[in-house]
Parts: sequence; structure tokens; C-alpha cells
Amino acid sequence: MSVQARPKRLSVTQIQARKSGDKLVCLTAYTAPMARLLDAEVDLLLVGDSLAMTVYGFDSTLPVTLDMMIAHGAAVVRATEQALITVDLPFGSYQASPEQAFRSAARIMAETGCAAVKLEGGEEMAETVAFLTRRGIPVMGHVGLTPQAVNALGGYRSRGHRTAERDKIMRDGIAIAEAGAFSLVIEGVAESLARELTERVAIPTIGIGASPACDGQILVIDDMLGLFAEFTPKFVKRYRELGEEIRAAARDYAEDVRRGRFPAEEHTYTAPRQPKKTAE
Ligand code: KIV
Repeated sequence: MSVQARPKRLSVTQIQARKSGDKLVCLTAYTAPMARLLDAEVDLLLVGDSLAMTVYGFDSTLPVTLDMMIAHGAAVVRATEQALITVDLPFGSYQASPEQAFRSAARIMAETGCAAVKLEGGEEMAETVAFLTRRGIPVMGHVGLTPQAVNALGGYRSRGHRTAERDKIMRDGIAIAEAGAFSLVIEGVAESLARELTERVAIPTIGIGASPACDGQILVIDDMLGLFAEFTPKFVKRYRELGEEIRAAARDYAEDVRRGRFPAEEHTYTAPRQPKKTAE
């Protein structure tokens, strides 16, 4: 029996070792076909609860359930071999207590096969992060603009421009890092704050609307591909306009069908020719 060399998945400890090293390349993914396309190009794929908007058409991340995250997380794990897969803990599945967080995280890890979970919040979640990490669950933190707290924050505006808010976000990031998180997403904050927080914590920071000084960057895949056009935050760079491409393809198809150009002969099953009978 020959043993084929398979690319190995990046581990949590390998990600952690990239502090101040090669930049971490991260994207979100929610489905098997997209994850398959992205796997070899990135270090980490996040099955983010942003799927509430990108996949399900909700206007916030709040309606996402644990079952939804598990279904998408399992699909992304099945379709990948190299990237480290992290799955978001959805709103309401971890904030009540460390024990609730453990039950939710354990389900996600057991039922998807992912390597880590992500949760939002700062000082108030530090005890939960410590509880999970001590029990073998790697945690990615998320501070700054935390979309699950949209109602408390009063919208999706960038944060940390005033001293009190800046100091709070700094304390949040440090608390999560010291509680044992293996990495920290910093979203939608003043650039200088993200830079300073990156210098202050010993774990890799992953920026989104943060700073080029972060140890890595993440974008929502639908944003960078131009698939989600309802709202484009300032920090998004559009690398392609696939939404336009899809619309144009649908238009071409509709035209072909209406004019009877599709299906053509090569798209239909014709009966194989019968051999001619020869006279005996
Ligand atoms: O849900 C998500 O996609 C995220 C990223 C924006 C970091 O949390």
C-alpha cells in the first residue's frame, strides 16, 4: 500500500507562532465549494456568523443559531485539508456563563471537526476564554467593533477614537490575550489603537478595518469578491466584481433560452445510431 503525502492542516500552535512573523492570511467561508477554492490560498478560514447577512439575508448577526453554525462549519471542514478552520459561537450561545460557552463550543468542535471557536467580547468574556482554553478548546477573541453587540454599541461605526473607548478596547484585548486566546480579531477601530494593541499582546492580532501592523488580515469573502453589495464598509477592498459577472451570465442565459439558442445539439442526448442491417 502506498502512502500519499497529504498537505497537513495548519495548527493553532503554528498560527500562534506567527506573532510578528509572516502575515496571517484569513478569509471567511461558509460553504463547501467556496472553502475548496480558498483552502490552498489562506492560513485560516473563519466560518463567521456574518453568514447571517451574506447567506441568509438577515440584517444583523443576531438571528444565527448554533445549528446553523454547525451545518456550515461541517461543510467547510469537509471541503478543506490545509487551512485552520475556526467557527464563530453565535449570539446567545456563550454569553450566559462559561459552562454554557463550553457546551456550545464542545458541540461545534465535535460536530464540525473544526480546530477552534471565536467569540466576541472583552474583559467581561475573559473568564469564559480561560474556562474554555483550560478545557482544551482553542479560542480566537474578537474586540473593537463586535457586531453581536450592535444594539448596545448603537450601530456599526468604527470605535476607539475617544480616550475612554480607546482605553476600554485596549483593556479588552489585553484581557482576552491574557486569558489564553490563541489569536485576536480587532475589528473597526482607530488605526493607532490596533497598532498599539498588536504591540501590547503576545498573540497574533488579525485586523479587519484595523491596521496593517496587525499580524494578519481577514475579510468577509462576499465583500472582497463583490458578491455582497448591499453595504460596503470603508475597510473592504474589492478584488473582483463577481456579482456583476453572475448577473451578466444570468442575462446571457435568459437571452439564449428565450431565443431558442439553448440547449443546442451538444447539450442534448440523442439516441445512438442503430447499425444498418445488411442483407444475409
Ligand atoms: O463573522 C465574521 O465574518 C467575522 C469577521 C468579520 C471577523 O467575525
